[in-house]
Amino acid sequence: MTPAEWPFEVGGLDPTVLAGQYGTPLFLYAAERMRSRVDQFRSAFSDLDTRVLYACKANSNLSVLRLMQEQGLGLDTVSPFEIEIGLRAGFSPRQILFTPNCVDFTEIQAAVEVGVGINLENLAHLEAFGRRYGAEVPCMLRLKPGLSGPPHGAEDSGALDQWQHQSKFGIAWSQLDQARAMARRHSMVISGLHLHSSSVVMNPGVFRGGVQALFQAAESFEQVQELDFGGGIQPPVWPHDPEPDLNGLAAVLAEEASVFSDRGGRTLSFAFEPGRYLVADAGMLLVRANLVKNNGFVDIVGVDSGFHHLVRPMLYQAEHPIYNLSRPMAPPRRYNIDGCLCEIDHLACDREIPQVEPGDLLAVTWAGAYGFSMASQYNSRPRPAEVLVDQGSARLVRRAEKLSDLLSTQEGLPD
Ligand code: LLP
Repeated sequence: MTPAEWPFEVGGLDPTVLAGQYGTPLFLYAAERMRSRVDQFRSAFSDLDTRVLYACKANSNLSVLRLMQEQGLGLDTVSPFEIEIGLRAGFSPRQILFTPNCVDFTEIQAAVEVGVGINLENLAHLEAFGRRYGAEVPCMLRLKPGLSGPPHGAEDSGALDQWQHQSKFGIAWSQLDQARAMARRHSMVISGLHLHSSSVVMNPGVFRGGVQALFQAAESFEQVQELDFGGGIQPPVWPHDPEPDLNGLAAVLAEEASVFSDRGGRTLSFAFEPGRYLVADAGMLLVRANLVKNNGFVDIVGVDSGFHHLVRPMLYQAEHPIYNLSRPMAPPRRYNIDGCLCEIDHLACDREIPQVEPGDLLAVTWAGAYGFSMASQYNSRPRPAEVLVDQGSARLVRRAEKLSDLLSTQEGLPD
């Protein structure tokens, strides 16, 4: 961190004070940042009839869901419990969309009972849905036009092809005729078409391909009213990264909508399912340096967290900027910043940060998305607390786990 970026605060509060109050490791979220991300997203698409469904897999803390609900968003869900948590947070069934993948059909039936929107992604479920519900219950189709961007670490085109061929998501373009025939046979109402562009920055070029594909498919699914473009829009990671070009995406959508209507198409509405865009940079993981050591090759900062709390660096080689909050003006040094698990456990490699002393407080930023929601109890270490800062005050929205939380579902405990 350069002196210009100091002081570092969360919702107007000093994270070093909050770390003292709540202990570390600690997930810290800024409600105002989430709200302003919601506003930015919505205002970019305000000229178009667009629903925004928060993808709660990114961060499913009840308080975060309530915040999104209060902002008037809908909810993108992928599991029965996500639906249930969404309902408890105040979303109505009509505001919730269920997009499961590789699940048993009974999960879909249960979701229909609840009354949430259903998005089907394979022919077997489409056939089962048609047989069971016919024209009674509308559904959406998740398509796989084969145009998505590459996942992390697969930026070259060979890897991209490989990835697309291996992707398990959606009804393939080559299966569209079959899908259409099935829908006709069962008099089904296909109310929307969906694609998710993968979880990397959506660029307007890739996006246009997806938009054109969905408009094209909408021509032959006459009851389709909504095109849903999923999530995958990434907020800046590093301070000097550009903001994603939301206005560019909106312009592409408006252009393609007018091409569609010039060809005689009807007026469609749109949906997006942002997860990370709304919460990633509203959250940080505060960790304490337990020790600083040299392994004969590199300097290592060992911290009281690791991939059990933030798996993204290990799983995707994702970069999360890390700041030394205790010593922001110290001379920079290069370290591996490693977690405390008993295996290779990097939060960052060869990272320059102000010199660290044992006991220093580090902020691992961009941790509001896919941090806690992907955390585990590996090494029998409890998952950390979550604190939400709003209007100048901090609230413990999830306490840290205790030993009893790790044991409570197990059999055989002595009394
Ligand atoms: N909609 C669908 C159908 C999705 O599959 C996803 C993410 C989203 C929306 C939200 O995507 P977002 O806007 O957050 O990129 N755990 C990974 C990302 C996997 C996301 C899978 N699907 C990570 O930490 O980067």
